[in-house]
Amino acid sequence: MQSVGPYRMFHLIRAGSTYEIWTVRPMVDNTPYAMKWLPPGDKYTRESVVSLRHEYSVGKSFDHPDIIRVHEFGTSKDGAFLVMELFRAPNLKQWINQGLETIHYRLREVLINTATALAHVHERGWIHRDVKPDNFLLDQDNQIRLIDFNLSQRRQGALNKLLSGRSKVQGTHSYISPEQIRGQAIDHRADIYSFGCMVHECVNGKPPFTATSANELLNKHLKSKPPLLTVGNKNIEPAFAELVQAMLTKDAKDRIQSLDEFLREMKTCRIFRISPQPPPDQTEGGAPVASGD
Ligand SMILES: Nc1ncnc2c1ncn2[C@@H]1O[C@H](COP(=O)(O)OP(=O)(O)OP(=O)(O)O)[C@@H](O)[C@H]1O
Ligand SMILES: [Mg+2]
Repeated sequence: MQSVGPYRMFHLIRAGSTYEIWTVRPMVDNTPYAMKWLPPGDKYTRESVVSLRHEYSVGKSFDHPDIIRVHEFGTSKDGAFLVMELFRAPNLKQWINQGLETIHYRLREVLINTATALAHVHERGWIHRDVKPDNFLLDQDNQIRLIDFNLSQRRQGALNKLLSGRSKVQGTHSYISPEQIRGQAIDHRADIYSFGCMVHECVNGKPPFTATSANELLNKHLKSKPPLLTVGNKNIEPAFAELVQAMLTKDAKDRIQSLDEFLREMKTCRIFRISPQPPPDQTEGGAPVASGD
């Protein structure tokens, strides 16, 4: 069996573009963990190692049940690695792909839990910068874990401005805020825009903007009006559609200003006119294949 540093590798959860996610166990005991691993080879660059170490130090600054716990960062002859809590559950994108009925009946709780996790990131002075369904793990009991702090930045006007002068657009194009596209200084409200795109997808199966090219997609984020959720789904309460719209304004100062504000609104706002019921097979293996099994 392969090992990386002091860990034995068991099961590949996912091979991403740069890193691989594995279930691992330390040599000395049998506790399972998740490892984000940067193997030696082409992808092992100074930048990718620095990013992984950064992800570790950002993760270390959180202390919240809805945020993945990070344990260790290390480098060895077998590459660089970040060891974290293993949360055996699919990500929210996998649930969406499985069918919206697997989340609609519990959407209120899912949105409250995901917003609560992200609110903690903001409270601690960070901007996640890659808010999307793939970066929230969700189990059958609505427990969630926010993951992937690779792109996270401190909320600090001047420094952000310096760092954001990069030509590459960082973040995932379907969820990226107009100010991130423009390379302007950003704050936590960029995450609120991305969160709004994610809510849109949880409700209607698609983020607000889709396109056939990256340029067209970025242009839509900059200029097009997002479709109201009630247009795609007659079962949506107009007040909820407006709430989501208020997370998607082009100008951050017109947006919902904090996730606490969103959470307050959610206390009184209904999502659906007629409450969706759980799908019949929900308790009999209807979940998508969980990561980490
Ligand atoms: N701690 C964990 N426990 C269980 N599964 C995890 C954990 N961390 C990550 N995963 C799984 O691996 C996937 C990718 O993780 P992550 O987002 O950290 O990597 P990434 O480099 O962004 O990957 P990608 O290049 O695909 O975006 C997650 O969507 C999730 O399915
Ligand atoms: Mg990710």
